[in-house]
Amino acid sequence: MELLEKLARENYLNHGETVKLLEQMDEEGDNKLFHLAQRTKEKYFGSKVLIRGLLEFSNYCRKNCLYCGLRHGNILLERYRFSPAQILETCYRGAEQGFKTLVLQSGEDQYYSDEVLAAVIEKMKAEFPEIAISLSIGERSYDSYKILKEEGAHRFLLKHETADPKLFEALHPDTQQGNRNRCLENLEDLDYQVGTGFLVGLPRQGVEELARDFQFIKKTDPDMLAVGPFIPHPHTPLAGEKGGSLQESLRMVALSRLFLPQALIPATSALGNLHTQGRMMALKRGANVLMINLTPREFHSQYQIYRRKEWNEGMNLREVLVKSSLEPDMSRGDSIKKRRIKGVYR
Ligand code: 5AD
Ligand code: SF4
Repeated sequence: MELLEKLARENYLNHGETVKLLEQMDEEGDNKLFHLAQRTKEKYFGSKVLIRGLLEFSNYCRKNCLYCGLRHGNILLERYRFSPAQILETCYRGAEQGFKTLVLQSGEDQYYSDEVLAAVIEKMKAEFPEIAISLSIGERSYDSYKILKEEGAHRFLLKHETADPKLFEALHPDTQQGNRNRCLENLEDLDYQVGTGFLVGLPRQGVEELARDFQFIKKTDPDMLAVGPFIPHPHTPLAGEKGGSLQESLRMVALSRLFLPQALIPATSALGNLHTQGRMMALKRGANVLMINLTPREFHSQYQIYRRKEWNEGMNLREVLVKSSLEPDMSRGDSIKKRRIKGVYR
């Protein structure tokens, strides 16, 4: 496991080395990897887990990504969208509960023009000036990102999904990898704290393809990085595929921590969907962010990105975290990478 030690020491392996490491990984390697990832996480973040509030405000989407249940072509899905007033109402509930980061997430829904979103952000800024606003609303123009940033959004999540060009093309009929990368560059350029991420267990994704994701995250150095299993959705063209396993996904989370020691890495809800303890396992293997879903329960079954189980709901997260010797942290949790270089983000 020399390569693993080298990665932990230098936070870098080249493509060939990464491929070799991925090929070598076995149970013993995983144990070592998980330990190293957790130690790295603790070095920068201690036992803290940053808590974010998530609002899934619309499941309309104009795109047709092959893996996603929200794809336009899924005519079986009942669609919903929140009015600006409903969004703000949910934000109020989040603010009342002490959340200092709210993530507004949706499909690519053109109902939310720049004007509509800017008005929502303006109200959020006025009502909750201490709360960081994260957007997760897909590809938009430079000008659109600019308007929303100037209105007061702080962060933006836009996964690169896979860094492998062939795989990206096969999965995304209505966008190109170049376009996705341009969006990410524009977001960086506009001084957003940027989150990206990739799916694990996609059809025809092997070690070569995964190794590209690690070169990509190292090169782009995002503030946040979401890594989770691909889970087939029955009403998509990939319904019959196998999907990502828990072990492989946890392995990619832990490797991500070693490549990007300072990144904010969530324990994705897709992991929690594979196993009741999936998110807790990730938080013990390098992840340091937990998103709590604030979307009113009646909409959960409609925000069907993948086949969704509801077994996480209802458990007292604070208790579960503390039992695992983790400490819930309700602060804003800005990127430590950017703060160090550029000073506090506002
Ligand atoms: N399994 C896991 N994650 C998915 N996403 C979309 N479809 C799936 C799926 N079947 C994720 C993508 C995207 C976000 C909207 O949800 O990574 O960024
Ligand atoms: Fe739409 Fe995003 Fe799903 Fe693609 S992954 S179909 S853009 S919600």
